[in-house]
Amino acid sequence: MSAKKIAIIGGGNLGSAIAQGLLKSGFSKAGDIIVTKRNTGTLTALRDAGVQIETDNAVAIRQAEVIVVALKPYNVREVLQEFKDVFDPAKHILISVVTGVSIDDLEHIVPGMPVVRAMPNTAIAIQESITCISHKHVTEEQIRYVKTMFDQLGATVSIDEKLMDAATVLGACGIAFALRYIRANIQGGIEIGFDVRTASLIAAQTVKGAAELLIRENRHPEEEIDKVTTPKGCTIAGLNEMEHQGFSSSLIKGITVSYNKIVKG
Ligand SMILES: NC(=O)c1ccc[n+]([C@@H]2O[C@H](COP(=O)([O-])OP(=O)(O)OC[C@H]3O[C@@H](n4cnc5c(N)ncnc54)[C@H](OP(=O)(O)O)[C@@H]3O)[C@@H](O)[C@H]2O)c1
Repeated sequence: MSAKKIAIIGGGNLGSAIAQGLLKSGFSKAGDIIVTKRNTGTLTALRDAGVQIETDNAVAIRQAEVIVVALKPYNVREVLQEFKDVFDPAKHILISVVTGVSIDDLEHIVPGMPVVRAMPNTAIAIQESITCISHKHVTEEQIRYVKTMFDQLGATVSIDEKLMDAATVLGACGIAFALRYIRANIQGGIEIGFDVRTASLIAAQTVKGAAELLIRENRHPEEEIDKVTTPKGCTIAGLNEMEHQGFSSSLIKGITVSYNKIVKG
């Protein structure tokens, strides 16, 4: 698959994480990545790595074949409309990571453009994202390219676009949920005697190990929990107390509240 020049429009948290992931994975050379932003002060590390930094979106779009839109939902329409004459459906493919803006909306703003909607998370910076993608009017070759690109940056799953809001909550917001869980473990670890650095390492590596058991071994969580919960033991006592305090229920409620926030506003 030949290297394509990629323009990332909106080099904020996610846009710059994507640029870092593309660089670290070796999928793109620094000279093949352009990142745009109005205030480029936060992009020094990418600039130092050789990435082209631009304030002018038209310059970036003209040079690239792949346009990754990582703008906030409230200004994506305005920004894309401003540059719609610069887009060339015969040359460009548009990948939007913008929450809540549908493929139909994007096609309406930039008519004729092949559009892929992608929902990664910030672990894309270290090639550990889960990226959900859906698309319309895209060729087999184009979707193969997009999947290969996101596969380099973690794992990719194709979903029906109607599940994109759910993907946002479970995958993108999920990073924050998981981190808050780890943080609570660190706080608990400090209470029972560890210094913060040791508690952080134990908590994070334990969560990584638990996740790897599911991903690599394709196990069900409860199967693995059964292995740890000795009868009358300390694990089941702690676990049941967490459940009495609403552990699973609060997580499920949080997920549905986040989902309703996206869907109902
Ligand atoms: N963060 C996540 O975990 C995550 C995960 C999945 C999806 N998303 C979605 O990804 C999008 C970006 O999220 P984010 O967290 O990265 O937000 P962000 O940090 O605010 O990034 C958006 C960036 O767009 C830049 N921008 C605004 N107007 C611009 C323009 N006219 N031309 C070029 N750049 C412009 C802003 O920088 P300047 O003001 O300096 O121009 C800002 O840095 C959102 O739609 C979000 O819903 C985020």
